[in-house]
Amino acid sequence: MKYDFDEVINRKNTNSFKWDSAKDKKDIVPMWVADMDFKAADPILRALESKLQHGVFGYAHLPDAYYEAEINWWRKRHDFQIAKEWIAFSPGVIPALAAIIQAFTSQGDKVLIQAPVYNSFYTTIANNRREIVENELINTGDSYEIDFEDFETKASDNAVKLFILCNPHNPVGRVWRKDELERLSAICQKHGVLVVADEIHRDLVFEGQPYVPFASIDAINSITCTSPSKTFNIAGLKMANIITANKEYKDKFKKDLLMRGVHEPNTFGVEALIAAYNKGEEWLDQLLVYLKANRDYFLSYIQEKLPRLKVITPHSTYLMWVDCRNLGIGSEELSHRLFEEAGLRINEGSTYGKAGDGFIRINIGCSRAILTEGLNRLENVVKTID
Ligand SMILES: Cc1ncc(COP(=O)(O)O)c(C=O)c1O
Repeated sequence: MKYDFDEVINRKNTNSFKWDSAKDKKDIVPMWVADMDFKAADPILRALESKLQHGVFGYAHLPDAYYEAEINWWRKRHDFQIAKEWIAFSPGVIPALAAIIQAFTSQGDKVLIQAPVYNSFYTTIANNRREIVENELINTGDSYEIDFEDFETKASDNAVKLFILCNPHNPVGRVWRKDELERLSAICQKHGVLVVADEIHRDLVFEGQPYVPFASIDAINSITCTSPSKTFNIAGLKMANIITANKEYKDKFKKDLLMRGVHEPNTFGVEALIAAYNKGEEWLDQLLVYLKANRDYFLSYIQEKLPRLKVITPHSTYLMWVDCRNLGIGSEELSHRLFEEAGLRINEGSTYGKAGDGFIRINIGCSRAILTEGLNRLENVVKTID
């Protein structure tokens, strides 16, 4: 079956956070929050339809088929064997991160992250009253590298108890190499820092460096967060699986989730996860071809028409990290102008940490027609900036 990712689906007035949270702007092109404009894969739609037709939506439990789907996905897509006992459900990765921060750190402890990085890392750590410590990534012009010396200095602080790794990395699109992960792992082990690997973007990898699960380096001293939400564009169904081979960690995590009153999963989410991991590969393989073409189109458009902007070529995700520092205006002002003058909504770089100042993040998980419209709007505003 050939999926049509060119189809433009009207998402306005569907209570979409991405499309409907700026109601005052009618003619908006939203290229910000990380969900895609594509319809879910047919097997997912069929599974949800069947549940809907059944018509009874009581509390769900996780059947064996759920665990098998998760385990098989790891094996067939990522060549890694996990066990049922390693899996703990969570209604999303962010709730899991919050629970992990609470369960494994105390007030006054510090959490290490690699800036610029996903904004909710900052808010989740701050909301749980822990101190943020940044290991700034090194911008090499067309990519980012890890400053290992700085990482070790920060990790050696006794108050640093947790390191949240983003692999692949949002927003810079890096897929970390095995040797890089091994080095991070060795430093964390040496200094008694627990590694939490947020691998929500693991399935959206284009070429070059393949994704290496952190658990394949060290499944005992780590906790990995995964979800079909980004991969299959089902973030609203609120399903994630938290993976660790360390029984003590798993029990501690589950206990904390329970303490917050989080237990049964979403009835529709269970069906969607099983269908996605068992039957969603065809859709995903076609999606990756489409996203890569969108990425390449974006890169050539910027190179030809807006050479003052520099794009970091992402090897993963549908999020473009654009260096706007040559424009001579801050990214906050640029974001404001893009929205006010052109109705183009993007993410402002400094929300990913100070290291993101001067950058914007643009979501290209949309039809080519919307992408082109967004790029035209970007061009029209940037052209007016001397
Ligand atoms: C790295 C990363 N982690 C977590 C999330 C959100 O996870 P969830 O919706 O499962 O809480 C996102 C969403 O953009 C993300 O990019």
